[in-house]
This record gives sequence, structure tokens and C-alpha cells, in this order.
Amino acid sequence: MEQQSQKPSSTSIMQVGTGFWASKVLLGAVKFELFTKIAEKKLMSAHEIKSSLKLNCTDRNLFDFLDTLTTFGFLEREGLLDTAIYSNNISTDFFLDKKKLTYIGGMLEMQNNRSYDIWSNFEEALLTGRPQSEAKNGENFFETLYSDTVKLKEFMHYMSGLQMENFILLAQSFDFSKYKTLVDIGGSAGLLSLMVAKNHSHMSCISWDLPPVALIANEVIESHQLQDRVKTCCGDFFKDEFPKADIVTMGNVLHDWDEKTKLMLFKKAYDALPDGGVFIAIENVIDDERKMNAGGLLMSLNMLVQTGTGFDYTFADFNIWSEKIGFKSTSIIPLSGPTSAAIAFK
Ligand SMILES: C[S@@+](CC[C@H](N)C(=O)[O-])C[C@H]1O[C@@H](n2cnc3c(N)ncnc32)[C@H](O)[C@@H]1O
Repeated sequence: MEQQSQKPSSTSIMQVGTGFWASKVLLGAVKFELFTKIAEKKLMSAHEIKSSLKLNCTDRNLFDFLDTLTTFGFLEREGLLDTAIYSNNISTDFFLDKKKLTYIGGMLEMQNNRSYDIWSNFEEALLTGRPQSEAKNGENFFETLYSDTVKLKEFMHYMSGLQMENFILLAQSFDFSKYKTLVDIGGSAGLLSLMVAKNHSHMSCISWDLPPVALIANEVIESHQLQDRVKTCCGDFFKDEFPKADIVTMGNVLHDWDEKTKLMLFKKAYDALPDGGVFIAIENVIDDERKMNAGGLLMSLNMLVQTGTGFDYTFADFNIWSEKIGFKSTSIIPLSGPTSAAIAFK
């Protein structure tokens, strides 16, 4: 009945279909370090921005670029066109100023430099079921990426950007008072450990990952001056057991792999915990009905184009795997956007 009274609308079809226009405007602004430059000066006219970014487009193109960012809410503006003065809003100032430790633009830089091209082969991934990344010919995704130090560094900044707000929210919302030690498996630059240590002075954390990431992780830990309570440790989860800890965390690790590997990781986490210990996965947990969390479903398709066999999952899936391994109970804490913390108690 209701469907009959609904009129067809092309709005969302057009919005999604041209979504890459919007994406490129933001990615371009990040590439030109627009938000960093504005953060330095606080207020900038369009002409100051044009010369600072060394743009050679017409003034009309410039105003369109800056005002598109304004309509998205990424810039604030007083005045119009020639008299316009632009500033960052509270979020772009916090997350997109490269000089702040809370910079998440690394994630966007990698979307522009790498993922944009990989995603252009999305149809090929669906037709063949094969990844379209550096791991196209069946190589281990991480080994291939990490053999190139520029790509390794870019990937680590990408990961930190993607999870920054989630780790801040996890550190603020999970009750850490009953625990003392945490090991973050696949900890990359150490950000989860840093956010937990920063907010909970009784916690000692280990960021555990493959050897190539340790050097960069140690630099990041030093920049936060938390070397006394956040350490790095190297290991390979296909070969090694995890260090023992009260809490085992994995941010965006399970989703990289097929179900068999996911279960292997669940089991190693279980074995590393004492009774009463807790396993936390911080990922794009898809809603059980698979109708709401578009970001989570897109991330799962991103795993197809990047890794081939990885996929994101629902909390119902998480519960099945937790029970299979022997965890006593589970809970979930929503974090930022499509991400949640799925928690299993031993
Ligand atoms: C998608 S990243 C997630 C990084 C970080 N936890 C986050 O949430 O941003 C997956 C991490 O798993 C690590 N990893 C991949 N294979 C691994 C292995 N065999 N042993 C240990 N860590 C591994 C990678 O180096 C990378 O840091």
C-alpha cells in the first residue's frame, strides 16, 4: 500500500553514483594539506589559499572547490567569493591538521594514492573473486605491501587514521578498572595501546605485530612519551602464540582473513587470557539484519578488493565464533560511524 503512494526519486541514485566526485574533492584538499595550512593561520581568504596551494585554476574553480568543502561542513566561511574568509571546523581542525597527533589524513592519503585505483577494478573482483591489490596474484597481502618501505609507512598511517576516533572512544567507554595488562595483536603503529595507556594510568600495554612495523611504532610511542607503559613486541600469528595478558585486542585484524584464520586467531586470543580475561575486536561490525551498516558492508567489499578472502561480519557471527572457542559471554559497544567493539569474556 505504502509503496503505491511513494513517488520514484533519483536523488539517492545520483548521490551514490557521483559519490566519487565528493570523495575526490576531500582527498584533493587533504593532498594539498589545505586543513593544515588553514590551521596554521586560523583564517584565510580564498586568494591566500590559492597562492599557498600553488593552484593555477580560475578564481571561479577555486571558489567552487572551497565552497563545496563548505557545503560538506569541512570548512566554515564568512563573506562570499572575493570577500570570503575560510576556517576549519572543529572536526577538520582536530583530525585533518597534519601537525596534530590526532591527524587521520593518512587514511585519506592512501585512499587517494592507492585504493582509488584498486577500487576502479571492483567489477573484476566480483567477476573473478580475486583481490585487485598488490596481492592480485595470490601473494600474502602484508608481505607484499611491507616489502616497499614507502607503502609500509603509508599503510601504517592509513590504519591509524581509520581507527583513531574508535580507539579514543574505546579507551573512554570500556571499563578497564579490573584489568592491568593488554596486548594488541596486529597493533600497527601502537595507537590502541597509546589511547588506553593515556586514559588509564594503571594499564601496561604491548603492541604486537610483524617485525617491519616496530621501528615506526616505536617512533609514534616516543612522540606520545609513553614508552614506560607501551612497548612493542614482534611476532607472526601464523607461527607464534600471543603474549599472555588480561585483555587481548585486535583492531581490523579478523576482517583481513577467511573464517578458518579468524577462528585460529580467536583460539590464540583465548589461550593468552586468564579466566575472567577479555577479548575485544574493534571492527566494522555489520548489523545482524544486514540492512543498516552500509559502511560495514562496504568495508567487507574493500576486503574483497584488497585481500581477496577477508570479510567483515555481524555480531551474530562473532557470537557463534566466541561460543565455539569457549568464551562465556559477549557484549558490544558502538564506537564511531560503522565501527563497534565486539567483546568476548573468558
Ligand atoms: C588492517 S591492519 C590493522 C592495524 C590496527 N590494529 C588497526 O586497527 O588499525 C592489520 C594488522 O595486522 C598485522 N598483521 C598481518 N599479518 C600478521 C601476522 N602474520 N602476524 C602478526 N601481525 C600481522 C599487520 O601488520 C597490521 O598491522
